[in-house]
Amino acid sequence: SAIYRAGVFGHRPTVPVEPAALEAAARKAMSPRSWSYVAGSAGQQRTAAANTAAFGRHQIVPRMLVDVEERDLTTELFGRTLPAPLLLAPIGVLEMAHREAEHAVASAARALGLPMIVSTQASVPMEDVAADLGASPMWYQLYWSRDDELAESFVRRAEAAGAQALVVTLDTHLLGWRTRDLDLAYLPFAQGQGLAQYTSDPVFQRMTRERANQPRTERDPRPTPAAVRSVLSQARRFPGDVRTNLRSGLPRAAVETFLDTFSRSSLTWDDLARLREWTSLPIVLKGLQHADDARLALEHGVDGIVVSNHGGRQVDGAIASLDALPGIVDAVDGRVPVLFDSGVRSGADAFIALALGADAVLLGRPWVYGLALAGAHGAQAVLEHVLAELDLTMGLAGVRSVADITRETLATPTAG
Ligand code: FNR
Repeated sequence: SAIYRAGVFGHRPTVPVEPAALEAAARKAMSPRSWSYVAGSAGQQRTAAANTAAFGRHQIVPRMLVDVEERDLTTELFGRTLPAPLLLAPIGVLEMAHREAEHAVASAARALGLPMIVSTQASVPMEDVAADLGASPMWYQLYWSRDDELAESFVRRAEAAGAQALVVTLDTHLLGWRTRDLDLAYLPFAQGQGLAQYTSDPVFQRMTRERANQPRTERDPRPTPAAVRSVLSQARRFPGDVRTNLRSGLPRAAVETFLDTFSRSSLTWDDLARLREWTSLPIVLKGLQHADDARLALEHGVDGIVVSNHGGRQVDGAIASLDALPGIVDAVDGRVPVLFDSGVRSGADAFIALALGADAVLLGRPWVYGLALAGAHGAQAVLEHVLAELDLTMGLAGVRSVADITRETLATPTAG
């Protein structure tokens, strides 16, 4: 209501409130490459478009004369109470959106008490983000490296840094066909961006040193060991300083080591058992779209699921994430939390996902746009706008609590 009152009395918001206007403003503020990486999806962008369009096929049917004076947005997840059913989706390479990257986002999350899921491709080491977050929850998102020792190191660092859950993203074992990035000949990782989790890791540092010490050939020029040592020591000295990456550039050996180890297309369900040996954190699988995969996840003892298609960035033509949600909710049948992302642009969108059975929703691109426009304040403003609209939608729909946002609140009660 504070946002509303300020608007009524002529104060302009920090960033545009209307989702399309927010996106347009961010586009103007960002470089073409950064914009294409953040806003772009796979192929002809069909799944990205389907993700947002899917919300238009569900209609909320408001109920009247319900006492909604007191509304409760709090939500329980993994034995902890969150202020709202909203988390910050893991987003990599935030240095493209803003110089302060995760530092700014953590301060926005901290101001609102919302959990931030820190990416393996973050621009700031997870330990520094944890410090920035203070009492706000950190979750860690894992890209399971081709090198198990490195993957294990990430997982153990996350637990030691106080992460409350481990989100394993399964849909990006190969990078999707990102047409806009290909046209701009741009891959941020190849330019050393988004590698702070790696360069701050002792296992990765050792692998990089070993690679740099291999004999140099004319065809495959390697940086000198001295160059590698200097950048690694810089990375150690200023682990939280994204300028280390931006200005000095990483040695080729580090980028090559990353490219060698990033993806692991041979992973199967049986590998999950190893993860259990590395951590006692709740394990959440992100990127599920098939109800049978949700069943397999339960059989393999996972603690939660994120229904997601990575914002349409992986398979162009894939099912809209919202269309995959009800079937997965039915298959899981309340045994573990089901989270949702891909296409959420507003509080009303979040309401619809919750009504279709999601326990909580991850917000992705919108807060990145806020970050690009106005740093920590911009990201925080976007989160506040979504929370405010969710709260209003609940009240106006005649719903007092998150648990009461059921399929009965929609005109399209899907059987599953
Ligand atoms: C992502 N996403 C993502 N997911 C993940 O598990 N690890 C990551 O590092 C990233 N990085 C990333 C970067 C950018 C620029 C985007 C847009 C997305 C996917 C993200 O967590 C989430 O699934 C999508 O953002 C959801 O789609 P929308 O709602 O943002 O369109």
